[in-house]
Amino acid sequence: MSDRFEVTFAPLSADPETVTALLAGEGLELGSKARELDTKSAGSVSKAAAAADFKGKYKSTIEILAPAKLGIDRLIVAGLGKDGALSAQQYVDLGGAILGAIQNRKTSTASLIVDVETSGDHSAEQIAALIGQGALLRHYNFKKYFTKKSGDDSAADKDGIKKLIVHVAHPDKAKAAFHPLKAVANGVNFARDLVNEPANVLGPVELAEKTKALEKLGVEVEILDVKAMEKLGMGSLLCVGQGSARPSRLAVMVWNGAKGSKKQKPVCFVGKGVVFDTGGISIKGAAGMEDMKGDMGGAAAVIGTMYALAERKANVNAVGLVGCVENMPSGNAVRPGDIVKSMSGQTIEVINTDAEGRLVLADVLWYAQETYKPKLVIDLATLTGAIMIALGKEYAGLFASDDKLADELLSASRSTGEKLWRMPLDKAFDKMMDSKNADVKNTGGRWGGAATAAAFLQRFVQKDVPWSHIDLAGTAMDGARNDINQSWGAGWGVRLLDRFVAGHYEKSEK
Ligand code: BES
Ligand code: MN
Ligand code: ZN
Repeated sequence: MSDRFEVTFAPLSADPETVTALLAGEGLELGSKARELDTKSAGSVSKAAAAADFKGKYKSTIEILAPAKLGIDRLIVAGLGKDGALSAQQYVDLGGAILGAIQNRKTSTASLIVDVETSGDHSAEQIAALIGQGALLRHYNFKKYFTKKSGDDSAADKDGIKKLIVHVAHPDKAKAAFHPLKAVANGVNFARDLVNEPANVLGPVELAEKTKALEKLGVEVEILDVKAMEKLGMGSLLCVGQGSARPSRLAVMVWNGAKGSKKQKPVCFVGKGVVFDTGGISIKGAAGMEDMKGDMGGAAAVIGTMYALAERKANVNAVGLVGCVENMPSGNAVRPGDIVKSMSGQTIEVINTDAEGRLVLADVLWYAQETYKPKLVIDLATLTGAIMIALGKEYAGLFASDDKLADELLSASRSTGEKLWRMPLDKAFDKMMDSKNADVKNTGGRWGGAATAAAFLQRFVQKDVPWSHIDLAGTAMDGARNDINQSWGAGWGVRLLDRFVAGHYEKSEK
């Protein structure tokens, strides 16, 4: 995690660093401190803006070198757009864009002046905190395996910045507003680390063990080994890992944060944690197979979400469950045609060993429902190539058995910018999963691959449990880069699920 970078808050009166950014609204509307700097430097901001035709458009920037009399080497002016018109997420994105502009410069410390006199929904302190979150997210990188740390051209070198000081009228208030936002950024960056980590380092046991890092935040962690899963009858999950030299695990994270005397039913998050997917006996082609180290992106999203909820002490009961396996071909591997028995009692004919994620989820979903009697279940999985064909790298696919749950997720999606597009569940897809030799088979043929995968999963969801499935094969790894994500492993879904919980399953009074 990029914990070598921090965001702190200081009063407007504090001296700015030699690299300083300030904000300008549309029409070059400046706040009090920015006006002061402009005046002191004989109008350097207004002159540079005029020369560069800078009008304060949202996220546009100009850079002024060595403005007179300020003791500042580089003054970056970032556009806010129309006064008060930005959403919370747009401030977060702006924070990412500003950090990007600062990172182009070699400096270990930079200042950002947030002196906006807002008429919108957000106070200057909230804006400062949101921008700070964007900076934390933008700063993330995965460079632990570079051994050369210096030299301008080294890919390892571009993280000179260690500290962003945000200057704002009431730094204490900004710090308080920043606390939960930082927790969420930490959860996202934790998830990114898991996705980026190669599979030789992060096997199923190691992935499961990573959840123990959440214990320090008050999360109860339980890890089930192969023996325990055998006892539970998880023949579906276990058949996926049986070809690997490294044993499977099921990690369970319990956060009991709901206040009040009555024990509330938890929301359950289930993640596909295939640490590497070779396809098994139905082996994949060589091209791009290295990307299959990210086939635990669903698990990472679940772990990162639990991290965020616990660190910000969310007023909710939540359980995260991740099935950790490796899909390998070997003399012990499951074969096409094999029939396995799932924990639910249903038998499954394995047609294609590369459709392994659903086999893992079948048992984890069942276990989650039997054990926790949840209010709802959401599973996240890099489940199908077909969802990428349908939706590309910007959208994840949303399948939901319950319209209210779907709408809540879509609303969280709109406010975080982690885009979801609803896909169909249909009896016709379900029928395609009927097997000639067992209760169900694990592939549904060539067409509608994401929808038949969802139909398979639904067979392992109990009648009255609202359930939704998010297929993030396109977004969890090598997704579209943006202002707040420059990483191959995006940590996609953490902000979405955190917002989903905050918006619909937490009482606002803390
Ligand atoms: N992990 C893959 C899906 C995937 C592919 C994720 C590319 C990210 C990038 C999954 O286990 C898989 O192999 N799915 C198969 C299913 C098929 C055999 C029915 C697929 O989509 O081709
Ligand atoms: Mn596969
Ligand atoms: Zn897979």
